[in-house]
Amino acid sequence: MQNPPPEAREKLALTRHVVLVGLMGAGKSAVGRRLATLVGAPFTDADDAIVEAAGMSIPDIFASHGEPEFRAVERRVIARLLIGQPHFLALGGGAFMDPATRERVAARGFSVWLRADLDTLVARTSRKKGSRPLLDAGDPRAILADLMERRHPVYATADLTVDTGDQPLDVLAHDLVQRLRQHGILV
Ligand code: S3P
Repeated sequence: MQNPPPEAREKLALTRHVVLVGLMGAGKSAVGRRLATLVGAPFTDADDAIVEAAGMSIPDIFASHGEPEFRAVERRVIARLLIGQPHFLALGGGAFMDPATRERVAARGFSVWLRADLDTLVARTSRKKGSRPLLDAGDPRAILADLMERRHPVYATADLTVDTGDQPLDVLAHDLVQRLRQHGILV
């Protein structure tokens, strides 16, 4: 977990974990980092925690052990992260599809779905080619469109849905701080 950045502008307390969910490229990690800076709270990227726990990159975990093993590690790591002090937590795109993870998030956190359109997801994920094994299996746009269809109904069960639109991520983070205050998650 990263320490709160020194430039935090507004000291607010988190009453629960704020768990960011959504597809690859939705901006979960980028928004999570900005939120942490604005509020002066810690931020964790679950994918980074998985890489640290496994001692290898996500593409290497998929290649050497397969997706089921990746999902098992992901479930364990997220369960551990949800036990600690409240922080901003960005989940990998598939993590919220796991029923046990959803239950833990509901018990200890407040989930926020960052909903982005297909063009945005394709554009953002194309900048980091090779880092997301699911997108290497064929045409990334077709894969993302299929994932949208299967995952959006589950992401829709999050406590809050935020349409990312084409607004800058800084603006999105500022708006989200206000929404989290209204929900009593930031006090
Ligand atoms: C995945 C998303 C990735 C990473 C892994 C699988 C998914 O995280 O966990 O490649 O199943 O959607 P990001 O959503 O942070 O890219």
